[in-house]
Amino acid sequence: MERNPLKQVIRNRYGTPDVLEIVEIDQPEISDDGVGVRVQAVALNRLDWYHVTGTPLLGRPEMGLRKPKSPLFHADFAGTVEAIGKDVDGFKAGDEVFGRGAPLAQYVCVEADAVARKPPGVTFEEAAATTLAGRTALQALRDRGRVQPGQKVLINGASGGVGTFAVQIAKALGAEVTAVCSTGNVDQARALGADHVVDYMHEDFTRNGQRYDVLFDIAGGKPWSACRRVLAPNATVLLVGGPKKNRLLGPLGHIVRMKLRAALSSRQAVFFIAKPVTADLEALAELLEAGTVRPVIDRRYALREVADAFRYLGEGHPHGKVVIDMD
Ligand SMILES: NC(=O)c1ccc[n+]([C@@H]2O[C@H](COP(=O)([O-])OP(=O)(O)OC[C@H]3O[C@@H](n4cnc5c(N)ncnc54)[C@H](OP(=O)(O)O)[C@@H]3O)[C@@H](O)[C@H]2O)c1
Repeated sequence: MERNPLKQVIRNRYGTPDVLEIVEIDQPEISDDGVGVRVQAVALNRLDWYHVTGTPLLGRPEMGLRKPKSPLFHADFAGTVEAIGKDVDGFKAGDEVFGRGAPLAQYVCVEADAVARKPPGVTFEEAAATTLAGRTALQALRDRGRVQPGQKVLINGASGGVGTFAVQIAKALGAEVTAVCSTGNVDQARALGADHVVDYMHEDFTRNGQRYDVLFDIAGGKPWSACRRVLAPNATVLLVGGPKKNRLLGPLGHIVRMKLRAALSSRQAVFFIAKPVTADLEALAELLEAGTVRPVIDRRYALREVADAFRYLGEGHPHGKVVIDMD
């Protein structure tokens, strides 16, 4: 059966999602240690938004000063292995995998050790949605926060990509979880297992009289002076992002201010960038298979609607993950 030409999403300049182009490509060649994957679903992250818009400007030396160094940018993907490099053991054609580290395209070639097997009962969309957001939440709470059973954990920004995983992973680690989100996402946060939910549109979590052992600050938006009120004496604040309003610094201004203020206190503030550890994808696959973690898919788009998907992501209030059906 003859297949349609393969498509790939690129951008040759920075700007609104209108800069995105869908182009046809030849099937890329795999390396000896790589696999070729027919992509079924892609999930978007704020990081991908930064690569399209060229913000924060601080990132331009790496991305390309006036225009992108490369028209390609990465996204989370899930799909079916179709080709295997000669040095690769452990995968065969037909295996279903997920990962990151390849362009947003219908067919990608990646190093075999960068992908993990998708559990059979999990959809391609769910697997793709888990890659970066799930890995960030796992590494934050398990490795950086070292969350222990019975600890009180607050997730600020509990309704977006990272936050929906964070609520469930914190529960799986045995924590008593407080989720902070907007009014429309309160029911979702409860359904994900949060013990307490703070609707930030009507209540200020920094004035609720509680003390938290771990504050996972995904949304930013509250200064150290306010967060300090609800931190237990040896609390850890986990920083991964923040408001995207500042075009020059993005979330970095908030992160640096929090780190500096924490340095003068008994609490610690930890900023980290999630590492592409494949063992963590495997750990997440187990959580998905067991039903301990359930990815929340907010909206699905067809490939031809990729610019709309980015526009929605850019509004900054997804209820979970935004995915693209690549088939
Ligand atoms: N360091 C890393 O390795 C790493 C990895 C992944 C992501 N990140 C960063 O983490 C941040 C979040 O990523 P994401 O993928 O979860 O983004 P996302 O899917 O766009 O979700 C952001 C969420 O923030 C919530 N929010 C906005 N304003 C809020 C406020 N004032 N208080 C509480 N919640 C608020 C929104 O929920 P409501 O609709 O309920 O307001 C929205 O759902 C970004 O800055 C991203 O760059 C960092």
